[in-house]
Amino acid sequence: METLNCISARACVRKYTSKAIPKDMIEKLIDAGRRAPTARAIEPWEFIVVTDKETLSSLSKIAEYGRFIKEAACCIAVYCKYTKYYLEDGSAASENILLAATDLGLGACWVAGDKKPYVTDVSKLLDVPEEFKLISLIPLGWPVEKVEQKKNRKLKDVLHWEKW
Ligand SMILES: Cc1cc2nc3c(=O)[nH]c(=O)nc-3n(C[C@H](O)[C@H](O)[C@H](O)COP(=O)(O)O)c2cc1C
Repeated sequence: METLNCISARACVRKYTSKAIPKDMIEKLIDAGRRAPTARAIEPWEFIVVTDKETLSSLSKIAEYGRFIKEAACCIAVYCKYTKYYLEDGSAASENILLAATDLGLGACWVAGDKKPYVTDVSKLLDVPEEFKLISLIPLGWPVEKVEQKKNRKLKDVLHWEKW
């Protein structure tokens, strides 16, 4: 998909079919994540791919507003080492994954993040060392429905030329 079309087409998808995602496709998503810009070229990210049904179910119970993780074919947990710009770096990597998923026809949704009270529970479940921070959980699967073009704030309402 052409890049600008892909950016426009991306939308959160929370309903997935039961079909698995091929391993090479998941690797493409992680490859997209690791290509993100990163302050001081630190690349503090680590990506955990969860496909185990029991772990997906546990994640869905832990993550408030992430119940649909249970139905996902897999869930990528994006972590970053606690560095000065870990949140920016990890967010850029997460967005790259969402865009790559859109390009491949997959459905995905950003769930949670660094400020949620349940981050410690997720880290314990996934055996993550303490110095790493959860940036996002990204459940993925084949969309049940056609992904609808969403309504965003209008360009004229967000664009400021030269000054506010
Ligand atoms: C930091 C962050 C946290 C989010 N957390 C959740 C979440 O816990 N559950 C959920 O269903 N969606 C979550 N979302 C997705 C947003 O709800 C979604 O991006 C927003 O409604 C806009 O829709 P769109 O992604 O289709 O453009 C999160 C998004 C971001 C950026």
